[in-house]
Amino acid sequence: MIRDYIRKELQAFKPYHAAFRPQKIKLDANESPFALSENVKNKLIQWISNEENIKLYPDTDSTELREAIASFWNVDVENVICGVGSDQLIDCIMKVFLEPGDRVVMPTPSFSMYGSTAILNHGVPIEVKLNENYTYPIDEIIKTCNLQNSKLLILCSPNNPTGNRLPNEQIEEIAQNVKCPILIDEAYGEFSDETMIPLIGKYSHIVVFRTFSKAYGLAGLRVGYGIGAKEIIDAIYLTKPPYNLSVLSQKIATWVLQDEKVNQERIEYLKTERENLIQELRKLPNIRVFDSDANFILIETQDLELSEKLEAREIFVRSFAASEGALLLRITVGNKEQNKILLDALKVLIQ
Ligand SMILES: Cc1ncc(COP(=O)(O)O)c(C=O)c1O
Repeated sequence: MIRDYIRKELQAFKPYHAAFRPQKIKLDANESPFALSENVKNKLIQWISNEENIKLYPDTDSTELREAIASFWNVDVENVICGVGSDQLIDCIMKVFLEPGDRVVMPTPSFSMYGSTAILNHGVPIEVKLNENYTYPIDEIIKTCNLQNSKLLILCSPNNPTGNRLPNEQIEEIAQNVKCPILIDEAYGEFSDETMIPLIGKYSHIVVFRTFSKAYGLAGLRVGYGIGAKEIIDAIYLTKPPYNLSVLSQKIATWVLQDEKVNQERIEYLKTERENLIQELRKLPNIRVFDSDANFILIETQDLELSEKLEAREIFVRSFAASEGALLLRITVGNKEQNKILLDALKVLIQ
């Protein structure tokens, strides 16, 4: 039986699954509601019409895109690595630092891929529970890393699914007391007012991951990047697959990043929508609405069927089990029309 040959720790493993429903009111995966800008679309049409452009392997080092990212963040190109989504970089960083049985410390609840990618790479996820209000137990995180001799600490800020960020000051406190590599996952960083990127020169064991899947609207293209001191970027490079980003992904991501005015307008639009949505949600009875520094909002409800009720109206959000008798819903901030449809539905469903 093939099953007998599967690694023991993967016998009961569940591969990542996410529902695929592109045509609906899709507020379940924190994607952007915006399509490619006219400017980028025109560049793409022109580029694709040259049949020479896709017949060769891409630049394995994504140099043009890395240069654009380096220039955007005012760092050197050697401080940047690109991956097929930040998912690939999360895999690469675990591949390079984990020996079988090594511990990876991660506050929880957070992005589910951290735990599963650690297991796939023969590591052991060690979860540190966030405080009741989802703030970070800083001392506990430091203590756990040191006691467990962790090989990697992952801090997601703003955190998925809770939406709050971990202030730089607290990240610095952790970094000063933890020796192992620290991954700061800023997948939602564009929606927040703080980033650790300017501090990578001060902490050589910190690497920041970002993505084009959220604020930049390129989830379908799969592009992510990491920024850190040369030493940690070189380390992650050891496990980066060759030719990982397609030539199309490299091109489009470069053009999108350079479309700065459009990006800023879109981010501001979504931040304004987020605050409006939070305000409106707070007027509804019987739900708890958390603050957010991301492009999604977490709510807690006692109605365990609320997610199904929304689905019946073709509105898709992400649900998580909370404490007994409660359900957490993570709702992506969409465009004005989507947000109105969502609110109108919730006004009827929540009494
Ligand atoms: C916190 C966090 N990190 C990373 C990712 C992966 O992003 P990408 O599309 O770049 O692989 C996600 C996607 O939902 C996320 O929420």
